[in-house]
Amino acid sequence: MNKTIYNFSAGPSVLPKQATKEAAEAIFDFAGTGIGILEMSHRTKPIEGMVAETDSLLRELMGIPENYDIVFLGGGASLQFCMVPMNLLDESASADYTDTGVWASKALKEAKQFGQINVVSSSKSDVYNNIPKNFTQTPGATYLHVTSNNTIYGTQWKSFPKANTFLVADMSSDILSRKINVSDFGLIYAGAQKNMSCAGVTVAIIRKDVLGKVKRTIPTMLNYQTHIGEQSMFNTPPVFAIYVMNRTLHWLKQNGGVDAMEALNNKKSNLIYSALDASKLFTGTAAKEDRSTMNIPFVFQKGAVAEDKVEALQKEFLSFTLERGLEQLKGHRSVGGFRASIYNAMPIEGVEALVKAMADFEKKILG
Ligand SMILES: Cc1ncc(COP(=O)(O)O)c(C=O)c1O
Repeated sequence: MNKTIYNFSAGPSVLPKQATKEAAEAIFDFAGTGIGILEMSHRTKPIEGMVAETDSLLRELMGIPENYDIVFLGGGASLQFCMVPMNLLDESASADYTDTGVWASKALKEAKQFGQINVVSSSKSDVYNNIPKNFTQTPGATYLHVTSNNTIYGTQWKSFPKANTFLVADMSSDILSRKINVSDFGLIYAGAQKNMSCAGVTVAIIRKDVLGKVKRTIPTMLNYQTHIGEQSMFNTPPVFAIYVMNRTLHWLKQNGGVDAMEALNNKKSNLIYSALDASKLFTGTAAKEDRSTMNIPFVFQKGAVAEDKVEALQKEFLSFTLERGLEQLKGHRSVGGFRASIYNAMPIEGVEALVKAMADFEKKILG
């Protein structure tokens, strides 16, 4: 295909071309072994070495201290919604959860099976268009859970609350997009299929001292300690997805690391937010102070087009952008309109092409 395509999907989503090319080559010959990565045992030196290197790259890029373990797991971020409380929360104890979107509410619903869950703040009544930051933590709560970036609603914690005990964060949709201080967290988890890799692998970064405190029996596969003890090789890990992560992390390092990504993500998201703020047709849906640098939902402004024309015009905008190679811009059903997901691997040219398409479409419709 000759046309340049920009993929604005919320996940699985755009990956660095260099990383996918290297991963594709490894399918036929992994690291000069003559055997394809899909056909190679995880108990071989080349694969063990690759997994260990992925661990150290992630450690280096995120500045993960020695007192944290990293594990590569299956089951997606959704499995972490239960693994976290199963491993950290005793039946007689409680944990605080902030309810900032669908994924946050799924996490807290799951956690309720394992202990007392206090929903300390929620923006549900505002269709999750903001991050409620003023709340009181429950004395004695084991941990405070946050979803650092709300993929569907395009809101993001710009600075994290200081937990009375320790923070647990779902960073599925903004890990490696900005500098964070890992020491502020007891546990970080993220499904890889947005900023790190393809679907199939989930990363958990766990401070050593938060484990081993609950009385319940934890099934072997759901126990973090099992995977820590075996360097993520207790059972067959998702080797290919880990390799895609390995190549993506190499790309990230070559391109200036997390600091450079953060600067670029600010620049890219500012381009779209400035366009939205100047537009007479489009408007963003998230509260300004909580706007995400990763996912940008937007809709037609109320009154800019007749109510009965909105649906047809939405379709028209999606065809208009599609013709220019701008893909996957349809909004999530719970927000409607459009959503541009601009993860690390989205080049600035893709964002510029989107901003131009928005301006051209506005001119076409409003004159
Ligand atoms: C913030 C967040 N958490 C959790 C999930 C669920 O991830 P998974 O499909 O890997 O279970 C998603 C998926 O989009 C997400 O965006």
